[in-house]
Amino acid sequence: MAAGKMKTVFFCQECGYESAKWMGQCPGCKAWNTMVEEPVRAKAAATGGGRAASGGTGQSAYRRVGAAAPVSLSSIEEREEERFSTGFSELDRVLGGGIVPGSLILVGGDPGIGKSTLLLQAARNMAEQGREIVYVSGEESIRQIKLRADRIGGVRDSLRFLCETDLESITEILERRKPALAIIDSIQTMNNESVQAAPGSVSQVRETTGILLRLAKETGIAFFIVGHVTKEGTVAGPRVLEHMVDTVLYFEGDRYASYRILRGVKNRFGSTNEIGVFEMRGEGLAEVLNPSEYMLSGRPQGASGSIVTCAMEGTRPMLIEVQALVCKSNFGFPKRQATGTDFNRVSLLMAVLEKRLGVPLSDFDAYVNLAGGMKQTEPAVDLGIALAVLSSYRNRPLPDSLIAFGEVGLSGEVRAVTMAQSRVGEAAKMGFTTCLLPASSLKGWKKPEGIELIGVSNLREAAEYLG
Ligand code: TYD
Ligand code: MG
Repeated sequence: MAAGKMKTVFFCQECGYESAKWMGQCPGCKAWNTMVEEPVRAKAAATGGGRAASGGTGQSAYRRVGAAAPVSLSSIEEREEERFSTGFSELDRVLGGGIVPGSLILVGGDPGIGKSTLLLQAARNMAEQGREIVYVSGEESIRQIKLRADRIGGVRDSLRFLCETDLESITEILERRKPALAIIDSIQTMNNESVQAAPGSVSQVRETTGILLRLAKETGIAFFIVGHVTKEGTVAGPRVLEHMVDTVLYFEGDRYASYRILRGVKNRFGSTNEIGVFEMRGEGLAEVLNPSEYMLSGRPQGASGSIVTCAMEGTRPMLIEVQALVCKSNFGFPKRQATGTDFNRVSLLMAVLEKRLGVPLSDFDAYVNLAGGMKQTEPAVDLGIALAVLSSYRNRPLPDSLIAFGEVGLSGEVRAVTMAQSRVGEAAKMGFTTCLLPASSLKGWKKPEGIELIGVSNLREAAEYLG
């Protein structure tokens, strides 16, 4: 234990905000009851009340890297950034084309969503390419890992496992072996002796990440770091680390639905507009190369209240089925429910339908659902939601080959959306033959074959077209 007076400070477990006193609401991220007390060395805490993000303990470790003279950029040799593939095209795409040596990639997500499975499979793929990989687990015994490995199959001996939580031992082994990639599963279980606070605390995960960062930059080992998103405030969440790492990916999805989305929220080496889609199966995760097809599988035919719309996930169009169920309300106060989309948006669209089209929805309960456990709040799904509600209210099915997208404004106008061409292209590819879209989105692009495009400028026109 290093010398130095010990004191305690308070950290927000959501965002890592540091404060000398306890507060009910974190001034950094406005979350309630997330402040916890942690012991720190007096020196490290000297940054005082501000955001620890700028002067956090983890960064001081990085600064110890040998002092060098400033250089000019022209003296730097130009070279293509060498990246290596994870063997998953969906994961490579989110990473911006593969893993950059020496980078730190944080993979966050709810416990049980499949982070360990994803990384074990990626590690298996990379070991197959002949790279040396070390998988460090602080959560599971080697037997538990073996059980998972048996499920996914094909794990080679060049993939090494280390069940360890002591950071010093881990860094020593990694420095010696110099693998191409190390996986730290999870950062919340890692323990750095020199930090007083318990594993999983804000200061502990920061300090540990800082040391891994330095190791990565010095040795060129790339790191995947797993960070659990936690519901109750017992351990620090991955957001505390976002500013320190090169890339932040979140693995999301409904635990009870089988599809999972890997979303980039920060990437120093690529765009954050990309997503990867996976499906959890009995033998691990499988890539979903055609998400639209997957999302539309099992769609009812000829049912009222169902329509397909197209949302963009970054640069990728994704077709989603919107379902609505509208039925007479038994109580004075009608019930509204939205699953997978914004509740307030649904209420607003229903108010617009009532006011502009005279549909008396205030006497009706309404349930709106994006099928397949999909979450989408892009305004382009508005037109789909409004038409699904209308179709259910009239109990009249919409043609199965119809797709609709567009933002709906408060006067019932259908407003332009971005990337109309990609959306229409995806719809045509999936066999849709009619597309309702904002009239103002029709200009300036080449129309694909086989799909009729109907531009509408307000909800009334769209409703009239449907008769
Ligand atoms: P896991 O990777 O352990 O989640 P995390 O590391 O994010 O906590 O995944 C756990 C879940 O995935 C578990 O509920 C079982 C399920 N699973 C499958 O359905 N199929 C599989 O092949 C594997 C390995 C796991
Ligand atoms: Mg795990």
